[in-house]
Amino acid sequence: MADDIRILMCPPDHYDVDYVINPWMEGNIHKSSQERAVEQWKKLHQTIKECAIVDLVKPAKGWPDMVFTANAGLVLGENVVLSRFYHKERQGEEPYFKAWFEENGFTVYELPQDLPFEGAGDALFDREGRWLWAGYGFRSELDSHPYIAKWLDTEVVSLRLIDERFYHLDTCFCPLSGGYLLYYPPAFDAYSNRVIEMRIPPEKRIIVEELDAVNFACNAVNVNEIIIMNLVSRTLKDKLAEAGFTVRETPLTEFLKAGGAAKCLTLRVTEPILEDVHATVSIESRVIRMEGHLLDAGILNQALDLVVENSGSFRVLNFNLGVERNSTSSAEVRVSAPSHQIMEEIMTELIDLGAVPPPQELCDINTETVIQAGVAPDDFYVSTIYPTEVRVNCEWVQVTGQRMDAAIVVTSNPPSARCVLLRDLQVGDRVMVGVEGIRTIKKVESHDGGARKENKEFAFMAAGVSSERRVELLVEQIAWEMRQIRDQGGKIVVTAGPVVIHTGGAQHLSHLVREGYVHALLGGNAIAVHDIEQATMGTSLGVDMQRGIPVRGGHRHHLKIINTVRRYGGIHEAVEAGFISKGVMYECVKNNVPYCLAGSIRDDGPLPDTEMDLVQAQGCYSELIQGADMILMLSSMLHSIGVGNMTPSGVKMVCVDINPAVVTKLSDRGSVESVGVVTDVGLFLSLLVRQLQQLTRPYSLNETF
Ligand code: ARG
Repeated sequence: MADDIRILMCPPDHYDVDYVINPWMEGNIHKSSQERAVEQWKKLHQTIKECAIVDLVKPAKGWPDMVFTANAGLVLGENVVLSRFYHKERQGEEPYFKAWFEENGFTVYELPQDLPFEGAGDALFDREGRWLWAGYGFRSELDSHPYIAKWLDTEVVSLRLIDERFYHLDTCFCPLSGGYLLYYPPAFDAYSNRVIEMRIPPEKRIIVEELDAVNFACNAVNVNEIIIMNLVSRTLKDKLAEAGFTVRETPLTEFLKAGGAAKCLTLRVTEPILEDVHATVSIESRVIRMEGHLLDAGILNQALDLVVENSGSFRVLNFNLGVERNSTSSAEVRVSAPSHQIMEEIMTELIDLGAVPPPQELCDINTETVIQAGVAPDDFYVSTIYPTEVRVNCEWVQVTGQRMDAAIVVTSNPPSARCVLLRDLQVGDRVMVGVEGIRTIKKVESHDGGARKENKEFAFMAAGVSSERRVELLVEQIAWEMRQIRDQGGKIVVTAGPVVIHTGGAQHLSHLVREGYVHALLGGNAIAVHDIEQATMGTSLGVDMQRGIPVRGGHRHHLKIINTVRRYGGIHEAVEAGFISKGVMYECVKNNVPYCLAGSIRDDGPLPDTEMDLVQAQGCYSELIQGADMILMLSSMLHSIGVGNMTPSGVKMVCVDINPAVVTKLSDRGSVESVGVVTDVGLFLSLLVRQLQQLTRPYSLNETF
């Protein structure tokens, strides 16, 4: 017998299931037999006494769960961190356990009020003493872990529990001697499973199947090579025997009704201290501030959900609810994460939701200097389409050239910040790293913002009769906005794929260019080739556009056209020479509408105008969209995504495609300015032109009726 091992137990004199604070207790109120409970407890007591010394704490009337001494606190050496129960049903046990620890010479540490931690039920030492595994998610708060690390001077490894049946760490996780681990992986989130796998080699992991897990197989007492547990499967016993353990089964059915078994009924009070183990925790916390229609628009929910989904935890420090329908709310939330990396991931997403650090914080910004041209420091902040501000010289500075997928380069004198593509970074540039000192300025979205967004996209071809009318309504609105932009000297950019020509849209798009509704055209080699083919030969990829049938030898048209334009030296030249006398490209040349054709691997020719250097092409696209008020994306996923990446939020995007997936992808920019229309693009353009023609009188702001 290992004389030096002491275990604390509490006789079940007042044990019963009196309330429901975990799923096991549901339907079991007063269903456990007192007599059988006493008998089972005595048997367990006896079994444990054969390998350790058992100390007893006197049970207190009215606190039925006090039998579960694992939840008294967490002991290491002479120190104990007393439990702070999450549920008021158990909080009354605290003074009794505290008294016992003090009487027995322990130094008792107490956590702040409102910071739950349920002792050895949620914190288990690696049996070699190397570190402490600590659970959170149901009963214990992640923020309690740094206190434990400090008071017990040990390393704490935090694990998040996600299955409410396994609400305490000791219900699904049992470190065994020899570095083995008995556990039920689905009870933990993905990050925690990775953490476990990094620390415990595969041959030391003993995985428990669900059937044993729900019989509390992991809730075992391990003393050297002996494991004491409730009845388990043959397979598991064999696995344990193979690893050199002796299993002592003892029935604990009456305690299972309260959600506990062998381990819960015990607390090891002799946990040896290892000299070379010292406090470390990787937990990080930050305070963020959020403002807006936090409740109506669901922003707060979204923020808190994303913290938890990413393995973090939170505490709302204060919340000011806007009282009127139109007033905004604000909240300060303390966010904790089990590691620095997770904190950064969470913060990046929170910044996108509009979270900012509290006002007085942060003066020095986090930057790192570029040491290799075209390569950002590892931890660089990836820009988004949202207006962003960064902290420079203790003030917020607006980032210029906002776009997605860039780094932010700052200068202090004068304070400035701008988006720079990775390839354009120069040695010596100071790049924002991490997530501190960065905020995105979100428009305060109105409370029905969410609802409106859902209505924006709908299927024209897929649904019943009403859809046609709905597309018309939307086109009316788009036409009206285009008219307004044109008449006020604004800018409309069109990205178009060759489908525009195939579907008979060329004449309509030509009309838009001619009438001054298009201020730049972006596309690839194909749209120009098809357009010129149609303008000069009446076919598009060899198909007669009037009759809709392929013409004999039509497949040659395409290359002939390319060849002819190449002979002229380019589209401009071919127009000036009179070879091209109508169509989209013709109108662009005649109306001085700049265009950029970005090449790709499948291009025939290409036309002399097509930019085959993609870095150059991205550059000319980006120049042409500067200052755009609206971008019409017509059936070109490739070019439209390219454009979407370089366009800041606030620019109205209208995406038209027959494929709903493309529309969803392009219009889902998390901003309200995008509209998706699932329809045939030729049809869309004809409706649009018809609408524009109906808006005969020029729009004027001070029109009075
Ligand atoms: N009914 C008790 C509770 O829900 C059971 C505690 C089990 N203890 C444990 N260490 N898992 O708190």
